Amino acid sequence: MHNLGILLSRRGSNFLAIADSVASGRIPDAQIAVVISNLAAAPGLTAARQRGLNAVAIEANGRKRAEHDAEIIATLQAHNVDLVCLAGYMRLLSPGFIQAFPHRILNIHPSLLPAFPGLDAQTQAFEYGVQATGCTVHFVDEQLDHGAIILQRSVPVLPTDDPHSLAARILEQEHIAYSEAIARVLSDNYQIVGRRYTPKPEG
Ligand code: GRF
Repeated sequence: MHNLGILLSRRGSNFLAIADSVASGRIPDAQIAVVISNLAAAPGLTAARQRGLNAVAIEANGRKRAEHDAEIIATLQAHNVDLVCLAGYMRLLSPGFIQAFPHRILNIHPSLLPAFPGLDAQTQAFEYGVQATGCTVHFVDEQLDHGAIILQRSVPVLPTDDPHSLAARILEQEHIAYSEAIARVLSDNYQIVGRRYTPKPEG
């Protein structure tokens, strides 16, 4: 059984999609061991409690990043988490956090990376005038929105779109992509070669 740890700061729709996939078996042999938010008021934390999951607020309270992260790492380890999923977690991770879970931290970003890293990726894509964008699930490394890509789903930008409608269609694809990516990582059938995440050779 794999233990997932979810980190979120906001509404938590990606977390809920992951929880549904765990319940339905789309992510096989896994459970959500703990949901952690850096903001006690995050709606995603309330949603986690309503589902009867372990849900913890660990706020920074003016502490240095490494100190705050150390408490989060300890909480993840106390719940035997083997895969950390950032789902709208609005803080950068310290190097110590990344080293504590090597190739075991995933993030979802609402663009086709490496295009449009950072905040408001959907609006960035809309204003740039691209005709296709999408979402990316990737491993977290020490650079923002940068680690090896696990999978992407693309979304056309329609002539009738505005940033809001585009973000909503990307979000639908995020909810599919994140569960597929988690299942792929847990399957242990893939490996990172350079920056490429590729199926392991058979046999
Ligand atoms: C999503 O757009 C995700 O790609 C980005 O933050 C947003 C989180 O949304 N990293 P939600 O809290 O999962 O609804």
